[in-house]
Amino acid sequence: MNVTVVGTGYVGLVTGCCLAEAGHQVVCVDNNQQKVADLKKGLVPIFEPGLEEVMQSNIKQAQLFFTTDLAEGVKDAEAIFLALPTPPQEDGSADLSAVLAVAKQLSDCLPAHYCVVIDKSTVPVGTAGAVRQAIANKATTEFDVVSNPEFLREGFAVKDFMEPERVVVGVTSDKAEMVMRKLYASFVNEGRPLYITDPATAELTKYAANTFLVTKISFMNEIAQLCERMGADVEVLRQAIGADSRIGHKFLYPGIGSGGSCFPKDVRALKHMSQEHNYDFKLIQAAMSVNENQPLVLTEKINQHFKDDVKGKTFALWGLAFKPNTDDIRDAPALVIIEELLKAGASVTAYDPEAGEHVRQRYADNPKLTIVSDKYEALKGASALLIATEWQEFRDSDPRQIADGLNQPLIFDGRNIFKTDDVQAAGFTYYSIGRKPVVQ
Ligand SMILES: NC(=O)c1ccc[n+]([C@@H]2O[C@H](COP(=O)([O-])OP(=O)(O)OC[C@H]3O[C@@H](n4cnc5c(N)ncnc54)[C@H](O)[C@@H]3O)[C@@H](O)[C@H]2O)c1
Repeated sequence: MNVTVVGTGYVGLVTGCCLAEAGHQVVCVDNNQQKVADLKKGLVPIFEPGLEEVMQSNIKQAQLFFTTDLAEGVKDAEAIFLALPTPPQEDGSADLSAVLAVAKQLSDCLPAHYCVVIDKSTVPVGTAGAVRQAIANKATTEFDVVSNPEFLREGFAVKDFMEPERVVVGVTSDKAEMVMRKLYASFVNEGRPLYITDPATAELTKYAANTFLVTKISFMNEIAQLCERMGADVEVLRQAIGADSRIGHKFLYPGIGSGGSCFPKDVRALKHMSQEHNYDFKLIQAAMSVNENQPLVLTEKINQHFKDDVKGKTFALWGLAFKPNTDDIRDAPALVIIEELLKAGASVTAYDPEAGEHVRQRYADNPKLTIVSDKYEALKGASALLIATEWQEFRDSDPRQIADGLNQPLIFDGRNIFKTDDVQAAGFTYYSIGRKPVVQ
């Protein structure tokens, strides 16, 4: 099929590349000229495992094109994906300005044949209708608007798109359903479910999924608090409750909270939607406030250990991305920790395998934050090591080298990446989440 994807961010670029890989003819449109110029040269602007290979091979095979010109990009399209940002507004609601602006532009340049416009962005219930209205304003050809929320995880985006656990499609016509079935045919073979429903259900499904995941993590973070107070071990507890198939092992890891571009904003948006519909969704507020407080759980441990005197001290920070295998620092818990330490007069030397440059740009004029390109280099002259992201390369570290680099063998682990027995044997004082501290 001829497919256009508008927006070439984490979702749009992956969608475009994977649809091209599946044999569709894809044009990606973005209004960022520099980004499009780089994409045309085969340069991937984000870190996403496997994406570069898929992108470059499809450019080479003339399956994948990039442009800044929306009208040019959609002229042959049978399906037009909108993968545009929907950031939170002050009141928590999703900002639909990019989505509606492109919909308005489409009303002037819809192709001369039937097409479907697909909301891939995470958008509040009712957006499919609003997009339809904006396009119908001037459009003269037949079209449908479909809701098709994306569930990919950054870090596994290509795999998740190519082998989705499910695809959800909200349609209002049989014709649109047929287009969507054809589009996803190769992705949902081998028994992967394709749920066809109405747009409202599809739109709400995405918010329900993300809010459930944040609630699950927040629940474990509260259990971790109890473990610390009651002398229990959250690691064993986590494994034991996860073994119950009704609970499952995933998303049961306590830590310094979940960040990223999606969870915090989607939870706030669902809260806002609930309020608009006069429903007091009590769990949301609790899950949100536990999550927001979670990075401070680590800084409280630091303050306690140093008796509120961190001024003038340097801390090594491993991990800046909001989770491993991505360079995305949007709402990353590491940033809260940096802010807290800088506010208290400490300095931070940070390392992340992929996200360092983004943080360097953000704090360009702050001499108290240094970004280095080697994890062991970050340790030099530091009073302690803090771990904010569970990258595999941190798990694989040599404890002796950590101890040699630091001023003293002291770790504050916000992701529980080490076994307490191992760090104890290596001579560390070690604080983690929901487990007894190791004090030498
Ligand atoms: N990032 C994720 O893991 C993820 C997962 C599922 C769903 N989502 C949702 O998908 C949507 C997109 O998220 P993202 O992370 O890909 O965003 P992003 O910010 O990485 O990318 C958005 C892209 O849209 C482009 N853009 C903005 N306005 C435009 C316009 N008027 N015309 C053309 N291009 C325009 C930007 O230049 C950018 O390249 C959001 O609603 C998000 O909530 C994201």
